Amino acid sequence: MTTQSLAESADKTSASSTPLTRDGFTTGLGVLAATLGSAVGLGNIWKFPALTGMNGGAAFLLVYLLCTLLVGLPVMIAEQMIGRTARADAIRTFRKLAPNSRFPWWITGVMGFAAAFLIMGFYTEVAGWVFAYVVKAASGEILTTDAAVTSQAFVDLISNPTLSLLIQWGILILIGAIAMLGVSKGIERTTKRLMPVLFGLLVLVGVRSLTLPGAGEGLAFLFKPDFSAITGEVVLVAMGLAFFKLSLGMGTMVTYGSYFRDDQNIPVTATRVMLADLTVSLLAGIAIFPAVFAFGVAPEVGPSLLFITIPTVFASMPMGNVFMVVFFILSSIAAIGAMLSLLEVPVAILNEQFSLSRRNATLITLVALALVGSLAALSNSVTADITLFGKNAFDLYDFLTSNILLPLGGLMIAVFVGWVWGFKKMKAALSNNGVLHNDGVITAVFLLVKFVAPVLILIIMLNGLGLF
Ligand code: PHE
Repeated sequence: MTTQSLAESADKTSASSTPLTRDGFTTGLGVLAATLGSAVGLGNIWKFPALTGMNGGAAFLLVYLLCTLLVGLPVMIAEQMIGRTARADAIRTFRKLAPNSRFPWWITGVMGFAAAFLIMGFYTEVAGWVFAYVVKAASGEILTTDAAVTSQAFVDLISNPTLSLLIQWGILILIGAIAMLGVSKGIERTTKRLMPVLFGLLVLVGVRSLTLPGAGEGLAFLFKPDFSAITGEVVLVAMGLAFFKLSLGMGTMVTYGSYFRDDQNIPVTATRVMLADLTVSLLAGIAIFPAVFAFGVAPEVGPSLLFITIPTVFASMPMGNVFMVVFFILSSIAAIGAMLSLLEVPVAILNEQFSLSRRNATLITLVALALVGSLAALSNSVTADITLFGKNAFDLYDFLTSNILLPLGGLMIAVFVGWVWGFKKMKAALSNNGVLHNDGVITAVFLLVKFVAPVLILIIMLNGLGLF
């Protein structure tokens, strides 16, 4: 069956409430903007610096890089490829591509559905902090080089239950409104406008931060590895970050791949997205670590690093208040593109698998998200004492997704593509049915997907979770 006929049969099986031709990205640039919009997010600006700081700096960065190249990139290509071939949501993709398989591969899509809710649960909370910091920065409240003051401001914010809920729900409404406009008119148009702004702003802030006195020590922390910090657990965290960063292992890239154009060069697109995403992470690291050392903040403080340290950086520079507002605006922009793609996984599934209109699918997802997310939003106040395995909802959602669900989903996708789907179909799909002459690239991706990625994921997961 060709991609076209698959797409047509998909249309026939979908409900009358969905349009006859499936919505999708309209231009190559739109594909790139939306996909990059998904990858670039709080993962770069908040998670990457926090985890790098907590896990020893440069050595962690190196492990993260290896995971990105050997596991992340091939899995991203595999996801986009099966998505575009099936032109369906994350559950139906597996049903369509392996209708007679004895193993229920569609479970991968179900796991992705669950992961989307858990990630959004804590992601909307952090996004809420970032949005709130735009206001805090503009008011001048956190414009101080005294980390004790910025630290208190952060604690005040996260321990206020009403405010936390209001901000989270406000964000859900914003994202939901964009999502309801559809794939091309909502997601594509928004990300195409916002992504260039994001890059411009980040370069501006990075350059300013690099010229701070004492920047050298921060750069050394980021780029001079000390391997004594690397343990099995640290490697698992690095791999989890690679999955989280590139939006992998949960069907996001399958779903976005299903909106790709037929002439899109998938290996090239994925590589560009990976490189641009890495650049943004490094720029964020370059903006944050010099300041961490210049102002004597401990690099290992974790999730609060961004909210305590970044204000001190800006407070110390001329026009710092302007730069700080700009920085939190750019972080908000990054979060929006990522949240749109997180939302798209359940919305597409409810829309196509369960034949709900896009509007109803989005509404139901939003209500469910508000419920799941509230537990995380309140985890620094009302529900702080509700813990499982010693973790509150916020930490638990984060741990379960990055360290378990995403790598497991990635493993299943790699095995599915490498061992069930096989080289012939992969070759046809990645060469756009022989139009592209990229045999070498396809062979390399195939070997990585079939052998390297599954073995690495399995070893790192079992070892990191202390199972061997
Ligand atoms: N990649 C996004 C980020 O770095 C987060 C994300 C994870 C988005 C999984 C979609 C799916 O912020």
